[in-house]
Amino acid sequence: MSGLPKKFPKQRFSLPLDGGGQSSTQSRAVDTGQGGDDKSSSGWTPRPHPLPQGERGSEKFLLPQKFSLQGRAAVVTGICGNLGPIWAETLLEAGAEVAGLDLPQAKKTDVFLKLGRRYSNKFLFVPCDIRDRKQLLKAKKKINDGFRSATVLVNNAGIDQPPAKLKESWTFEDIPAEICRKVLEINFLGAFQAIQIFGPDMIKLGHGSIINIGSVYAEIAPDRKLYEHFNLKPPFLKPPAYGASKAALINLTKYLAVLWGPYGIRVNALSPGGVEGNQDAKFKQKYTAKVPLGRMARPADLDGPLLFLASDASSYMTGAHLIVDGGLTAW
Ligand SMILES: NC(=O)c1ccc[n+]([C@@H]2O[C@H](COP(=O)([O-])OP(=O)(O)OC[C@H]3O[C@@H](n4cnc5c(N)ncnc54)[C@H](O)[C@@H]3O)[C@@H](O)[C@H]2O)c1
Repeated sequence: MSGLPKKFPKQRFSLPLDGGGQSSTQSRAVDTGQGGDDKSSSGWTPRPHPLPQGERGSEKFLLPQKFSLQGRAAVVTGICGNLGPIWAETLLEAGAEVAGLDLPQAKKTDVFLKLGRRYSNKFLFVPCDIRDRKQLLKAKKKINDGFRSATVLVNNAGIDQPPAKLKESWTFEDIPAEICRKVLEINFLGAFQAIQIFGPDMIKLGHGSIINIGSVYAEIAPDRKLYEHFNLKPPFLKPPAYGASKAALINLTKYLAVLWGPYGIRVNALSPGGVEGNQDAKFKQKYTAKVPLGRMARPADLDGPLLFLASDASSYMTGAHLIVDGGLTAW
């Protein structure tokens, strides 16, 4: 499947996609004429939200079209991690062009590299630290030059503190504020800034879907018993700033749904439960014992919910928090 308009030559987006020296005279869906600068958002006029396409009960009612992202561009932050490529592949499969942002030094996983080869003409890697507004502006310019203005933004970049990688642990009273600050800076402020930079083009186009990746820990507190077997002294505590940062992101989701709803922008949060990866067997066993569906999440559990939120299939949904956790938070 190729949703790429013919005007985009294939080799422009082949990996490695550091974008070095890319310049374009191609027309953009939105050309602000501002050269990627930080234009003020004043002067926007509210407009009715686009009505869903297709007539029920007629041959024009084509349900799969509602899930199509043909002709749209998407941005996914934290593209090099575990979940970034899952979101990207889903959006690419649905027909979107995808620009993936991550730290310049982020390790490219095999999954990421495979994706780049498979969708070489529709997938662009843009090095960018989302904490840095200037880098975000530069990234936006590069994306607008290469693709079109993004009308889907997946705020996925985030940091946590898995116990297996930890050399030091603290009691709650001793947790360094610096650790909290870093988590909040990336998980909340990074997403906040990405929305500031990519949102205005969506407003000018009159439609957009912003998806903030949260966590079940936005809703519930971590159970320390899950981590007891790590035998750290003092016992491991999942960083309180992690859940707090995600709860803040959920609140920002609602804030923006209200603020930008009149401009046709939908803002929702998607919170996966624990995704099966290289966690140790004991953790997996204790965690799954708490999950009504009896297992951790797999990539195939997440693509449908993401596509639903990104596409017109969720055209009347904004300010919502979609939790995909196998029932973990249901009790
Ligand atoms: N994996 C899970 O089980 C799980 C469950 C619930 C929620 N989440 C959330 O999903 C998101 C992705 O999780 P993951 O498991 O893929 O994490 P990950 O650590 O594998 O990937 C996160 C990515 O974000 C990038 N990143 C970090 N700081 C950045 C910055 N300043 N600028 C740009 N990129 C930056 C990292 O380089 C990394 O590639 C996170 O927000 C996480 O909180 C994950």
